[in-house]
Amino acid sequence: MSQSNVWTHKGTFILAAVGSAVGLGNLWRFPYMIGENGGGAFILVYALTVLFVGIPILMAETLIGRSGRKSPILAMTELTKSHNTSPAWQVIGWMGALAALLILSFYSVIAGWSVHFGLVEFSGRLSGADAASIGAVFSGLLDNPLLLMLYHTIFMLASAVIVGLGIHKGLEKGLRILMPLLFVMLLMILAYGVVFGEIGQAASYLFSFKLSELSLQGWLAAMGQAFFSLSLGLGAIMAYGAYMPSRESISRSAITIAIADTGVAIIAGLAIFSLVFAAGQETAAGPGLMFVTLPIAFADIPFGSLFGGLFFILVFVAALSSSISLIEPVAAYLVERFSLSRMQAVGAMAFVAWLLGILTVLSFNLWAESSVFHALFGKSAFDSIDFLASNILLPLGGVLIALFAGWALTREEVQRELGTNPTWYSLWQISVRYVAPVAVLYIFIRGIGLVSGDIWPLIIALGFMLSFVGGRSLWLKNS
Ligand code: TRP
Repeated sequence: MSQSNVWTHKGTFILAAVGSAVGLGNLWRFPYMIGENGGGAFILVYALTVLFVGIPILMAETLIGRSGRKSPILAMTELTKSHNTSPAWQVIGWMGALAALLILSFYSVIAGWSVHFGLVEFSGRLSGADAASIGAVFSGLLDNPLLLMLYHTIFMLASAVIVGLGIHKGLEKGLRILMPLLFVMLLMILAYGVVFGEIGQAASYLFSFKLSELSLQGWLAAMGQAFFSLSLGLGAIMAYGAYMPSRESISRSAITIAIADTGVAIIAGLAIFSLVFAAGQETAAGPGLMFVTLPIAFADIPFGSLFGGLFFILVFVAALSSSISLIEPVAAYLVERFSLSRMQAVGAMAFVAWLLGILTVLSFNLWAESSVFHALFGKSAFDSIDFLASNILLPLGGVLIALFAGWALTREEVQRELGTNPTWYSLWQISVRYVAPVAVLYIFIRGIGLVSGDIWPLIIALGFMLSFVGGRSLWLKNS
């Protein structure tokens, strides 16, 4: 790979990874999940997952990307060859590509909603409107498949153009505009929340821990959310890591990214809930929190239309800087493997995701109550795709990435990438070798209800770990 495929500016990796991490996951998903899963208790579990599982896997992904210097699929192909391991590890790349496609398909649809709400807020139509008519704006949007398709198309095109322009003229330049914008708008919304909202009430809601309110499902949800929010498990960070200059520190970058991502999620939560409380609204509204409850709050509060519009631009910008990281790994693969032009590769990825997005569009209207997906999985197409990608593919991808980085890569190359501080190295290694895999598998097995109770999932996770370590020569022929 030539130097032209390395970020031009120092710090672009962090900028790009934070751009990828901060998105609908922080602004939309995290606040409503807090509301659904017991407030502060959810945040506690979330923070623990980020610390012990998220940061080590973030480092592992960056490490694999930077030592492979290729798209995730080809980096894994090459690493399995050069390290003489079982080719089965290449599933990391393929599962990642599938997950990227699935997530991009619904991500674009939901990001599109922010276009609609931005326009509606700025029009001033909602100022002083009652709850029922604001609810009707959302349900009216969801009932209209063509309008949803229009916004879905706009968002997908915007993402595709940025990635299609290449890593320097598209991604790097785009991020250097989007990220400062995002930061400024976030601070404005926070300031608005502080001035006009109930920030104290929001803070005590977010930071008071009642662990009893957290269900088993809540643990899986927190873990899925951590993977989703940090963009882990599918190779997005790997793809960006491939363009990272060798002299930048991976551990420091990973910690910065995790702090920024969690910080934005908490700031968004504080701002949103302080407005929701100020307007006397409910916290447990589910996915409608940002599109119904919050607009109701804006309608009630001075300058609501202005700041409401601003808020939805913020959502759009944050989503855009994330969706480009879902396109990049697959597009980079298509360019390398089939010598397509960048535009062709991006076009192919975006088009397939756009088509798949139709399933999500229909989940909110024609297929809302019944569909093949309801018959097979007991939930809508959107919920099925989200569950498969976020709660199954991302955690499994994360476990495999951790195991591969922890066991297959040699000590010398890991130390070359991570630096040689022996304490950090050992902590990281213990985490990716044992802690992250067992924790993720345990919560995963328990959460999807493969076996019941608390003990069996743990026994299975530990059993897997033991048999993996015992039989590792089978998978890792080099050791
Ligand atoms: N992290 C983004 C968010 O929170 C979504 C996202 C972008 C993502 N790239 C990803 C999630 C890669 C998983 C994997 O909105």
